[in-house]
Amino acid sequence: MSRRKSGLIIAIDGPSGAGKSTVTSQLAKRLGYKQIDTGAMYRAVAWLISQAGIDPADSDQVERFCGDVDVRFDCSNGTRRVLANGQDVTDRIRTPEMSLMTSRISALKPVREAMVRSQRAMGQNGGVVLEGRDIGTVVFPDAELKFFLSASPEERGRRRFLELSGKGEAVTLEETIAAVVLRDQQDSQRDLAPLRQAEDAIPIDSSGQGIDEVLDRMEAIFREKIGQAVTEK
Ligand code: DC
Repeated sequence: MSRRKSGLIIAIDGPSGAGKSTVTSQLAKRLGYKQIDTGAMYRAVAWLISQAGIDPADSDQVERFCGDVDVRFDCSNGTRRVLANGQDVTDRIRTPEMSLMTSRISALKPVREAMVRSQRAMGQNGGVVLEGRDIGTVVFPDAELKFFLSASPEERGRRRFLELSGKGEAVTLEETIAAVVLRDQQDSQRDLAPLRQAEDAIPIDSSGQGIDEVLDRMEAIFREKIGQAVTEK
């Protein structure tokens, strides 16, 4: 197995609401790895495009705009912040409107090219867990460890509903499940880098499983891969 300077590249792909964010951040913490939430990067670009008043259907304008886009993570004060062209957009990119807008703009070629370039630069030295839709298929097809995390649309919609209503968003369970199904369709039917399980990815269905169960399994697979026994906790 090839080894990078600071550890493996771990890809966690899967549909929205499968628990990727929680799993990614906790797995990265357990392993002492960096974490890259590529969905947040697409969300940040969607936010910039809508703030700039750009029509996503105007491909020339989108392409020119993407030439100057800078999305990065800042963990300097103990919390993870998403910076879009220097502005902290961490909380603003998590609304249902931004989710749908992101699903739309993430299908555009100039947007994907800019983000993939920047994700490769951030992850190439290894020691990193990247979550997204196309990490194992496009961004790092040679990643040493790939997981495909899924759960039923009802379960994913229910989790998203709890998260949004907990933040005070006025949403119903039915419309949240419908939005999850719509985003699945947009993400898996687009021409560019559609959501799809890489052939060498390990499928994990998180329906009805606790987070620790999922994490223990992933960590055990990781330890086995690097030839280390799992230490008792
Ligand atoms: O993971 P998320 O829900 O924050 O992702 C937001 C949107 O971005 C989602 O519609 C799919 C898209 N996305 C993508 O196209 N490629 C990625 N690597 C990550 C997210």
